[in-house]
Amino acid sequence: MSHMLAVPIETSPGGIGERVVAIIQARMGSSRFPGKVLSDLGGQPVLWHVIDRTRRAKSIDDVIVATTESALDDSISNFCAAIGICCFRGSEEDVLDRFYNAAKHLKADVVVRITADCPLIDPGVIDEVVACFKEGDLDYASNTLRYTYPDGLDTEVFSFAALETTWREAQKPSEREHVTPYLRTGKFRTCNVQSTLPVAPGAYRLTVDYPSDLQFLRKLYEKGGKAASLESLLKIFDQEKGVLHAPERTIPNEGYYRSLAAQASPGVAPRLKLDQSFAWLSRSLKVIPGGSQTFSKKHTQYVKGAAPIFLQAGKGCRVTDVDGNSYIDYVQGLLPNILGYAHPEVNNAVARCIDAGHSFSLPHPLEVELAEKLTQLIPCAEMVRFGKNGSDATSGAIRLARAVTGRPRVACCGYHGWQDWYIGSTTRNAGVPQDIRNLTSTFRYNDIASLEKLFTEYPNQVSAVILEPFNFVEPRDGFLEAVRNTTHRHGALLIFDEICTGFHFGLGGAQKMFGVTPDLACFGKAMANGFPVSCVVGKRDLMQIFDEIFFSFTFAGEAASLAAAIKVIEILENTDALSVIAASGKVIQDGLNVMIRETGLSERIKCVGRPQWSLLKFLDTSGNDDIVLKNLFQQEAVKRGLLLLSTHNMTAAHDTVAVQETLDIYATVLRTISEWLQDSNPARFIEGDMSQPVFRVR
Ligand SMILES: Cc1ncc(COP(=O)(O)O)c(C=O)c1O
Repeated sequence: MSHMLAVPIETSPGGIGERVVAIIQARMGSSRFPGKVLSDLGGQPVLWHVIDRTRRAKSIDDVIVATTESALDDSISNFCAAIGICCFRGSEEDVLDRFYNAAKHLKADVVVRITADCPLIDPGVIDEVVACFKEGDLDYASNTLRYTYPDGLDTEVFSFAALETTWREAQKPSEREHVTPYLRTGKFRTCNVQSTLPVAPGAYRLTVDYPSDLQFLRKLYEKGGKAASLESLLKIFDQEKGVLHAPERTIPNEGYYRSLAAQASPGVAPRLKLDQSFAWLSRSLKVIPGGSQTFSKKHTQYVKGAAPIFLQAGKGCRVTDVDGNSYIDYVQGLLPNILGYAHPEVNNAVARCIDAGHSFSLPHPLEVELAEKLTQLIPCAEMVRFGKNGSDATSGAIRLARAVTGRPRVACCGYHGWQDWYIGSTTRNAGVPQDIRNLTSTFRYNDIASLEKLFTEYPNQVSAVILEPFNFVEPRDGFLEAVRNTTHRHGALLIFDEICTGFHFGLGGAQKMFGVTPDLACFGKAMANGFPVSCVVGKRDLMQIFDEIFFSFTFAGEAASLAAAIKVIEILENTDALSVIAASGKVIQDGLNVMIRETGLSERIKCVGRPQWSLLKFLDTSGNDDIVLKNLFQQEAVKRGLLLLSTHNMTAAHDTVAVQETLDIYATVLRTISEWLQDSNPARFIEGDMSQPVFRVR
């Protein structure tokens, strides 16, 4: 393979510290926007800006452009010659090879990878990533492992040695085409550089994917000028985005996800050895009705024979079953393990508490400490009462609302737990007297008329409106406000069931996220990373009534779980855990949705909701739930090492290696299922009894 240098340059002699070389990857061929790198931005080609801004980074010794040997890219080489920049040309398909040879030629000790579609790349951000690389004694540092920066500032820094190993070992087409995936497979010492900018990930796009992006950046550039700082660019972006027509959203790394789908080979995965699971099941069924304490954890929730039935250990995002098979767990105990299994700091806090006694005969100060903390974090929380399960909290809140209003009825929307007042409204209502069932009615999310109708039907009888303020569908503009106003107009209390939204979407719950404050709210699940604690919080005058009703049980103030909750909150407040959860969830959701499209399944499988807690929907050709498809997907995923129901219950422990493994598995599962759906009877590929839905509420 020949590597032609358009303009030879002097390389610095080396030996005086490490030689840091930025390699800007550029080509004229782009499926979405051919020729973008030489398109004009404020009087200079896009590529010129990338070079200019990269050169301003203090940590960089040399800047070079790497392009292909294709005649199409002669113009890039000519441009580099004209401005006196080294241009290295190499393989069109094997970008890793091109990259490696460019780095070798330039005698780089440390390589900084920049792509040519980022004309507003920030020198300060480049320096931050290089500094992190150097300080951390790493092989690879990047701000792209999780998206916390505005798009268009992507910087990857790695040692030449790590690049050389990658060049030698990486086999998959996606690893050759996208240069750095192999560096992120867990074999190298890596680090993600987290943005300290006070901006939401993905809120800004400073990259050029489409002509419309360039038009937008031109206007931004006009206002900011050549050397505009990142802060000033973001300020202009904010001031002008309405006027300037901010560019359409694209999916970061879309090309990479496409490669994953393209390289995956369809095929049925071998069956897992599950002898111990089945042995435990048969023992269990003799002494435990149904063989599980929780419907959603029961053996009927997965394809019988394909999935484990008993787990015995968990660490971080991974679990091991009783046969020794291990899985990346997207169920996470049905959402509680927000930091992942066996988090050392949480477990230590619990252990310390247990050593000092934890089920006391009088209240414990931790009750006060946790209650004080929650009142600082949750908008509606002026006072707090604790429980163990989410159902304790929702049922306590309903009893309180009935006591306060003197009314019997409840309007609900979502799932709210196992107690009579709620479960009587579902199809699994055996054992709930009709009189109680009659008291709860359901309304539809994002349909205020369906709530109004209940108030008309039952005038002055509704004590409370309880709803999950959000799960997988965004509230329509004004919906939550309208629910609050309607509820209050009719003299009822508004209760937000934040058992699931509590903490994955921030410590203030969905009420803080959407700026609508209810009268009462219920939290549980993720409060204590798997230790059992829940709470009702709310306005002081209402909460005081708890002293009059009966909401009282032996374990409500059990101290070890309170210690766990305090530690979880401390970690969520003081670390990047919540942004890791969002960022890892986004890679999974983006990657999955691109691969679903690439495998022709867009109409059949959808990953909806927000990245912290996204939902997989399986649809038949008429758009109804497709249970066969869901079972096929779950079956092939679990056999390959992914334990999932239908949501991604993200934790801070789902690291980039686990996320990458997940995408690789999804790619194969999707390719396989896509083939099976061509069959006249795809159900024949299901390897055991299908899962049995408990009932559908979402
Ligand atoms: C929204 C919501 N509310 C209440 C509950 C009941 O919580 P628990 O099962 O802890 O009683 C759940 C449980 O899944 C839930 O998802």
